[in-house]
Amino acid sequence: MSCLKFSVCILLISVAVGYYYGPQLHNVIPAKILQDVEKYIPKQVMQWMHSKSVSNKVAKDQQEKPTSDFKGKIFTKKELWDHYRGDEGSKGLCLAFMGKVYDVSNGKDHYAPGGGYSFFAGRDGTRGFVTGEFTDEGLTDNLDGLDPNLFLGFDEWSEFYESSYKYVGVVVGYFYDKNGQPTAEYTEVQKSIALAKEGKRKQQDEQKIFPPCNSEFSAAKGSRVWCSNRSGGIQRDWVGVPRLYHPTGAAEARCACVRTNGPPSVGSDTGANKGDLGNPHLREYKNCPSNAQSCVTSPPK
Ligand code: HEM
Repeated sequence: MSCLKFSVCILLISVAVGYYYGPQLHNVIPAKILQDVEKYIPKQVMQWMHSKSVSNKVAKDQQEKPTSDFKGKIFTKKELWDHYRGDEGSKGLCLAFMGKVYDVSNGKDHYAPGGGYSFFAGRDGTRGFVTGEFTDEGLTDNLDGLDPNLFLGFDEWSEFYESSYKYVGVVVGYFYDKNGQPTAEYTEVQKSIALAKEGKRKQQDEQKIFPPCNSEFSAAKGSRVWCSNRSGGIQRDWVGVPRLYHPTGAAEARCACVRTNGPPSVGSDTGANKGDLGNPHLREYKNCPSNAQSCVTSPPK
């Protein structure tokens, strides 16, 4: 069995085991490995695994929702850590996400001492939710210098906690001040989230115009890119031809399938009827005919 097939096999088994054995995985698999595994699990699969929790909990007990005038309690970090980690004699089991404190006693299997996600209890580990760094340094509310792309993850977790657990207040820190008011950082984070969403929307729109190519590499055949009417996961009624696409600002060029007839998607129609082939950010692959749907980009050695 090739190395690739073996890895895919291990990955599928991990996902299946993950689904059935849940976050106990975090007890037995070091966080670093889970973090690496996560990179290879499609986002949709990750969402599906985690959404299982949401639907179960919401269905189990229709949670009381905070009303708009409900402010709740203002916690200090020390108080949250000392009294709300769910150990014996503690006042409860809570965690904070983006400064908001939730009572997670209904999820004690995950968060109580010994649970797979107990490291989130008693603190605001917002940064760790998107970096997967489950260390004391990684589990912080400080988002300074965070990769802008990672801000996309916050909305989903926020919705998750809002819909799954009871909101009980805020913790003084990066997001809320000692009067329970949102900080300047809070506002900046909201802006970064909006920017990240806008970027994602633009990327999705761009991928509809220039869908990614299929690609393969083998020692025997070399590297090849080709187009099909669903390459890049973009279902469409045209196939297109492979071109090197390097939009302004992108770090590197990628292979895009380009529509060859009809008006251009961007700019005015000159009546040339050559689809997006006239886009200035495109280059042909060397030694590949202009109208070929498949190009060998590096021949076998
Ligand atoms: C950045 C990485 C990750 C974070 C921050 C994260 C976080 C969480 C949290 C907070 C929960 C508990 C949700 C609740 O309150 O019900 C959870 C549950 C779960 N996680 Fe993760 N997780 C991560 C990666 C993974 C990976 C890589 C896997 C699988 C290989 C996985 C599988 C699961 C499963 C199966 C559950 C339980 C769902 C259920 O029983 O309802 N997680 N995760």
